Amino acid sequence: MIYFDNAATTMMKPPAVAQAVARAIGEFGGVGRGVHAASLDAGMQVFQARTRIAQLLGAPSAKRVAFTLNVTESLNLAVAGLLHEGDHAITTAASHNSVLRPLYRKQDEEGVGLDILPVAPDASIDYEAYERLFRPNTRLVVATHASNLTGDVYDVARMAAIAHDHGALFVLDAAQTAGSVPTDMGALGVDILCFTGHKSLFGPQGTGGLCIAEGVDVPALKEGGTGMHSYDRRQPDFYPEHLEAGTLNGHGIAGLSAGVAFIQEVGVEEIHRKTLVLADRFEEAVAGIDGVAIYGGHGGVDRTGIVTLNIGDVDSGVVSDLLNSAYGICTRAGAHCAPLMHQALGTEAPGAVRFSFGYFNTEEEIDEGIRAVREIAADIV
Ligand code: ALA
Repeated sequence: MIYFDNAATTMMKPPAVAQAVARAIGEFGGVGRGVHAASLDAGMQVFQARTRIAQLLGAPSAKRVAFTLNVTESLNLAVAGLLHEGDHAITTAASHNSVLRPLYRKQDEEGVGLDILPVAPDASIDYEAYERLFRPNTRLVVATHASNLTGDVYDVARMAAIAHDHGALFVLDAAQTAGSVPTDMGALGVDILCFTGHKSLFGPQGTGGLCIAEGVDVPALKEGGTGMHSYDRRQPDFYPEHLEAGTLNGHGIAGLSAGVAFIQEVGVEEIHRKTLVLADRFEEAVAGIDGVAIYGGHGGVDRTGIVTLNIGDVDSGVVSDLLNSAYGICTRAGAHCAPLMHQALGTEAPGAVRFSFGYFNTEEEIDEGIRAVREIAADIV
């Protein structure tokens, strides 16, 4: 099997990740739930995970890293808690449904105004048009760092600065960049960074979180036990406990911590560099094949290891199936939970075939992918 679906979830992870999960399952007590060795061990490991994530993503401190199930839960928390009737929010057409659907519900049911910045057919966005969307009541901008469809990285430092000029908070969906593209929330001016553990942070599925700037408050959606202040009627207002009611996924977080340690050891710049060498090798070769259309500008500030294409007018699901059945190559087809991006690119009908490369892919695998696309195109165009 050749795994080119790293933007959905990474399958090849550093061996230390599975080892850390196995140890945690065998040895962890509940985080913050006891003074015995097993509970303290879990607490120490989870604190180390927070510390590593804060270092990697530029969060102010370990305490400002709160764990969730995934980036979807993190984005839901930010949108649900920070937008109220009479507020206005802005996002872009590059957003995933994990941003769009919580915002649509606010718009439909809670009287929140919403503007969506269009994306051009080359996947670019117009930053001056973005600034024109602000209103006096704009409370929140929620933007993706990189499109999960094309891999284009947007100038979120510029977007955050404009949001702050207008008194709005800036929430970053870093699902596609945390761990694979250098991302420092302090330097970018991000107020809340939402990440998932199972993609390029190499953690297990079911791990994710938010990094929250000092002075920013995210109302809790869950209330319950935190292992402390048990006689208080209300959820503690300090972080990260404010957002972490219930026993944490200590086992998963131990694996995530090992994934982040691997990234720190190799260096996120090196991971990014190597991934782009692979993506460029693939893109340059398939761009010259008759009938292949590639999407995304890649002329923005940066890119991830995604190359998305169609072959002739064949449905993307058919191509993705063929890649799997005839070549053992895993890709993702269809709409990728990014409906507005497909509308912008004009790919609603066929969807698109997304190849997403990662640090553990090899040049030999890339060449096999190129051969597959060449043969399929020769057969069906
Ligand atoms: N949102 C993930 C993707 O783009 C699952 O594939």
